[in-house]
Amino acid sequence: MIRTMSLVGAGNVGRTLASLFTQNGIDVTGVTSRSAGSTKRAADLFGATPVERIEDLPETDLVLITTPDDLIADAAARLAGSGRLAEGAVLLHCSGATPSSVLRHDSPRPYHVASVHPVKTFTDPIRDAASFPGTYCGAEGDPEALDALLALFEKIGARCFRIREEHKLLYHTASVYASAYLFGIIKIAFDLYEVAGVDRDVAAEILDPIMHATVSNALTHGPEKTVTGPVSRGDVGVVERQIAALEKNFPDRAALYKALGREALDLSEAKGAASPESIARLKDVLGS
Ligand SMILES: NC(=O)c1ccc[n+]([C@@H]2O[C@H](COP(=O)([O-])OP(=O)(O)OC[C@H]3O[C@@H](n4cnc5c(N)ncnc54)[C@H](OP(=O)(O)O)[C@@H]3O)[C@@H](O)[C@H]2O)c1
Repeated sequence: MIRTMSLVGAGNVGRTLASLFTQNGIDVTGVTSRSAGSTKRAADLFGATPVERIEDLPETDLVLITTPDDLIADAAARLAGSGRLAEGAVLLHCSGATPSSVLRHDSPRPYHVASVHPVKTFTDPIRDAASFPGTYCGAEGDPEALDALLALFEKIGARCFRIREEHKLLYHTASVYASAYLFGIIKIAFDLYEVAGVDRDVAAEILDPIMHATVSNALTHGPEKTVTGPVSRGDVGVVERQIAALEKNFPDRAALYKALGREALDLSEAKGAASPESIARLKDVLGS
């Protein structure tokens, strides 16, 4: 049962989760952050003790580490080495790209580790706490820690699902492809429209309905069933000419066109829309 917690790293995620936890009966008793200002502000907010060194945090049932990812392991090592971790305490971080095992270090008293990654963008603790209910959270770690944590996260409105620790980086990379890298694809589309004389405002209006329809179709019915475009139709000539146009005008972008074309070709094969001859020729054109 988690009744008390301390916070290491009083940034957006840390303050949001700590405030949601306090609304659900958890007492935040210690806070430490990089700057004295952040430490004090968060400590005042939660009625906790501000401490300068992580080693001086009070003993609590839960320690939430929400520093930048690269500092999590060091923070955990210092905490474990300090002997201030209570026996059976839970050490938690919220990174989607770092396994919970980085929290495991030698300690005089055994403790449990876990990671719960909210799939959400955090920029403002007050707004984010209000919009948190319904957020999907990917969780992995010690079963003892997860039993207590998943109950707590569900209380604050999270929808938790388990992920495999050994493939956590791939889990995180999935959303990089589907979200962060989409910005790059949209930028390429804007650049190509611009060369063709289409204003940026008009380009955005053209893309709006087709992008929404594509995303909606792919997520609702699956990309294999709904893939469209010249590769999916087996239009080899169009694909060849588009590659040539890119190589002439945007040579750095041709490789990405071919790589994504190969993914579309796999989908097209699964859909069965193009003829075997077109597929064989497209494999040649798109390379491997
Ligand atoms: N932001 C998101 O959208 C998001 C979403 C899901 C998961 N996450 C994960 O949540 C974690 C925190 O991200 P965030 O966005 O909340 O970061 P953030 O707003 O930049 O906050 C990081 C906090 O860590 C503190 N800090 C830096 N160095 C420290 C140190 N050596 N010791 C103690 N505290 C230190 C900073 O302190 P000062 O304020 O004193 O400078 C800052 O308050 C990361 O693991 C991230 O991957 C983030």
